[in-house]
Amino acid sequence: MKPIQVGLLGIGTVGSGTFHVLQRNQEEIRRRAGRGIEITMVADLDVERARSVVGDQVQVVNDARAVIANPDIDIVIELIGGYGVAKALVLEAIAAGKHVVTANKALLAVHGTEIFAAASAKGVMVAFEAAVAGGIPIIKALREGLTANAIQWIAGIINGTTNFILSEMRDKGLDFEVVLKEAQRLGYAEADPTFDIEGVDAAHKATLMSAIAFGIPVQFDKAYVEGITKLSAADIRYAEQLGYRIKLLGITKRAANGIELRVHPALVPAKRLIANVEGAMNAVMVQGDAVGTTLYYGKGAGSEPTASAVIADLVDIARLHTADAAQRVPHLAFQPDEMSDVPV
Ligand code: HSE
Repeated sequence: MKPIQVGLLGIGTVGSGTFHVLQRNQEEIRRRAGRGIEITMVADLDVERARSVVGDQVQVVNDARAVIANPDIDIVIELIGGYGVAKALVLEAIAAGKHVVTANKALLAVHGTEIFAAASAKGVMVAFEAAVAGGIPIIKALREGLTANAIQWIAGIINGTTNFILSEMRDKGLDFEVVLKEAQRLGYAEADPTFDIEGVDAAHKATLMSAIAFGIPVQFDKAYVEGITKLSAADIRYAEQLGYRIKLLGITKRAANGIELRVHPALVPAKRLIANVEGAMNAVMVQGDAVGTTLYYGKGAGSEPTASAVIADLVDIARLHTADAAQRVPHLAFQPDEMSDVPV
């Protein structure tokens, strides 16, 4: 079967990671997907930079619409970000019959209803594992691993920037403003950190998890959103003295009168595992009626962790196109003689 062809819109940190991981692990990915997956076209405003990442074998253009218009492209990866151009391009890709993979939580949390409806009408997938908690496969956990459960609540540290800042404030006894500047200097926080420190980024991610867990439309406008900008070193010290850590949590839960969706700093008992998630790491707890409490931990951002999630979505879509159902069972994709002896 010929490889599935992928067009990439925006080859920054995550796009480069996606290209490199696909190349490095191409044989394993081919076996797991049941067919090869190749990025054959890239659009980026900085054509030279894009070419320096992908070399001469991949077509590089500065016009994203040229990728969407290419009839050979099966999947479009949108890594541009934001609501404006990205929204137009995602809708155009869907209209052209392309599956879409995106890491754009802001776009989906705000315009998801429109985008998912367009995809459903066209019979294509919009996959977004990379949009929530980077490398942690939390979307797949909610959709697949926990599918038997009535989800009761989800609570997560889903913004690495703010968790890094809170960890530093606690470790060094410094106030928010001081640590924010340091985080910006070290590259942990963006030059404009508003979405992170005001809780908006976490609320985008919580909105998406809420929609999946509870089968409701994406409703970012219904979320209560409070960031960490008002916290002082003294707040964190007092919490510590009482046996708590302050964490910015994204929470969604079933309540008597509907679904709660909120992001705010919360006092977490210090002995809880999630209270001990430090630095830029993410962790998500999910409570299901059958499984009980589960916990997922890992890198919520970064080039290859996020690429890991992007590629998982590519593989999912490739499997849809694979006739051989055995390819869906990972170990059957390997031949017995390829297995090494396992010492027992
Ligand atoms: N700004 C985000 C964070 C990046 O700090 O977690 C990943 O979504």
